[in-house]
Amino acid sequence: KHKATKSEPSNGLNVPAKFPLPPVTFLYGTQTNTSEEYARKLSGQAKGFGFTNIEVDDLDNWKLVKGGKLNKLQKNDSAPSSEDDVKVSELLVVVTATYNGYPPDNAVNFDKWLSSKTENIEDTKKNELQGVLYSVFGCGNRDWSSTFQKFPTKVDNGLELLGAERLLPAGVGDASEDIDGDFHVWSANFWSALMQRYGQSSSGKNADIMTTNGPMADPSKDFTLEFLPANKFPEVQAAGAENRNQRGALVVIKENRELQNVDKSQRSTRHIEVAFDESEDKKPLYEAGDHLEITPVNDAETVERVAFNLGLVLDSVFQIKDLEVTNLSPRSMAANIKGPCTIRNALTYYADLTGTPTRYTLSVLAKQLATTRPDIAERLQVALQPGKETERLKEFLATHRTFVDIMTAFKIKELNFKEFISSVNCIVPRKYSISSGPLEHPHNPSVSVGIVRDMGGPDGKQVYSGLCSGYLKDLTPGTKINAQIKECKSTFHLPEDDSKPVIFICAGTGMSPFRGFLQERHAKGLKSHEKGGNSDAIMFFGCRHPEQDFIYKEELESYVEDGTLSKLFTTFSRSNQVVRYVQHSLLQHAQQLYDIVAEQGANIYVCGSAGSMAKDVKRTWERIIVQMSGMSEPEAEETLKRWAEEGRYNEDVWG
Ligand code: 2AM
Repeated sequence: KHKATKSEPSNGLNVPAKFPLPPVTFLYGTQTNTSEEYARKLSGQAKGFGFTNIEVDDLDNWKLVKGGKLNKLQKNDSAPSSEDDVKVSELLVVVTATYNGYPPDNAVNFDKWLSSKTENIEDTKKNELQGVLYSVFGCGNRDWSSTFQKFPTKVDNGLELLGAERLLPAGVGDASEDIDGDFHVWSANFWSALMQRYGQSSSGKNADIMTTNGPMADPSKDFTLEFLPANKFPEVQAAGAENRNQRGALVVIKENRELQNVDKSQRSTRHIEVAFDESEDKKPLYEAGDHLEITPVNDAETVERVAFNLGLVLDSVFQIKDLEVTNLSPRSMAANIKGPCTIRNALTYYADLTGTPTRYTLSVLAKQLATTRPDIAERLQVALQPGKETERLKEFLATHRTFVDIMTAFKIKELNFKEFISSVNCIVPRKYSISSGPLEHPHNPSVSVGIVRDMGGPDGKQVYSGLCSGYLKDLTPGTKINAQIKECKSTFHLPEDDSKPVIFICAGTGMSPFRGFLQERHAKGLKSHEKGGNSDAIMFFGCRHPEQDFIYKEELESYVEDGTLSKLFTTFSRSNQVVRYVQHSLLQHAQQLYDIVAEQGANIYVCGSAGSMAKDVKRTWERIIVQMSGMSEPEAEETLKRWAEEGRYNEDVWG
């Protein structure tokens, strides 16, 4: 129907005739709202192009049914209850992320539906979605190499298998580089392919829409903002108002102690234990392998600096009204602050002042700088042009990393507060692997937090502290923080069969989840064969120096003593001339390792940085497989992939 087929009337100018624009549905699968933001951006652009029947929704609220129709589901409903619930769309755009290779939380049911439809698909079902034209943009991070784009690719292939027609190859967004840039390039391609399809131009005014959102692009028009008589809201002003940003509960810090020998290492890792309210049944709140998600807050000094610089009264109370999220990013402060709020709380709990500024924030800053620093304003504007100038943007951000940096460096004294809260995103919670076992610590998990500090800025001498680790490091017992358990959806858990051997491979704070696993084994009384049990666990641990950052050393030694841990192999990268990493130790024990895995069916677990350690360890396993089994390289890669699919090679890695 929507296709420009040969039989359609021609206007004789070799320009395809215009076709009516169909209903369009943008579905997103999102964990941190990036995909939702892109889906909403696309829907704003669709409006600009003249689409009138537009839906934007969670993937899980939809399923696709026979005849090329998209049916909107009532929440928790497995089938539309009446004809009224059925919406039809011929054009489907999916923007989705992957969460460790799994679908994001709001796409779990869609994933199940897709699997049920595409597994063992017979020829007769291959045309089920005939008539649907679709396109996918995947959000991911290439540092997580083995699961990069896994779910978006599944959706892209699945829809094709079901007979839908792919408009253009799936977009690949990579957050380890410039995901916004990837999105801009892809969306421009998407619109030009689509408009061509419908016989419409994608140049002139339409080209503006593709790159900016067109005339209705100003997100600060999505709401009104009013200041309220501040003295009428003492409770809103009350110091220590709770952190309502994000979904967690307030939990109490029970312990916060140092794990490194700071004098020697000059670095710090904190052991932080928190206490959730005990539920009545005393059931553990988590499993070994789960994460604790913590939402940090900005420190009072930064908050005051920003407020004073921008001429804002910290204790004034404002309220957002008439909010209708159209162009506003769902990640923005404005889309998330509910009810009356003080400037102080908005800046403390919501404003991401120390992360990479969004492009929109940079454009707001550029506008502000147009009179005072036209040189910088122009530099920014050029760098912000979509697609082409990513390198310049990177260059700019290399020396001006954060909102605060830019504000300070270019002496920004005023900023429209409405634009500020529309463009600055909310602080994103950080995830830490839980380093305790649920049987021993059912309601009071701990995490092991490496304190992040590095140098940068225009002169390279400015110290940057990680927002969350910097916040946590000095908190005293009794302080409340915003945190919640995040269930680990992957197979990063101990095997159900206790007699299955396990191999833990970690570097630095990568030991965290394994301390949890060991506490779990200890609580269950699992012991090595050597100590009279039937359950072996081997650990490979790497750090810099035995006297500096060998965290939880005594605990590990006592686990070796009682057989909870069968063997502990350590490597130190900076204790003598030769640099040695965990993977070197794996090579040394290749034969033994290969036997345990290939013959005794051991599970392998890797925890460390995604960028280098996890990749190198994986590469090392491929080498071990090649050299111990005689397989070819591709066969070894295939084997490792299969182990991962079977839950025998498990990674918990961070960027
Ligand atoms: P380095 O700091 O001396 O480079 C925990 O951070 C440990 O992991 C440190 O000993 C660190 O060594 C080491 N490490 C750094 N890069 C690594 C890699 N690619 N593979 C394994 N270990 C690594």
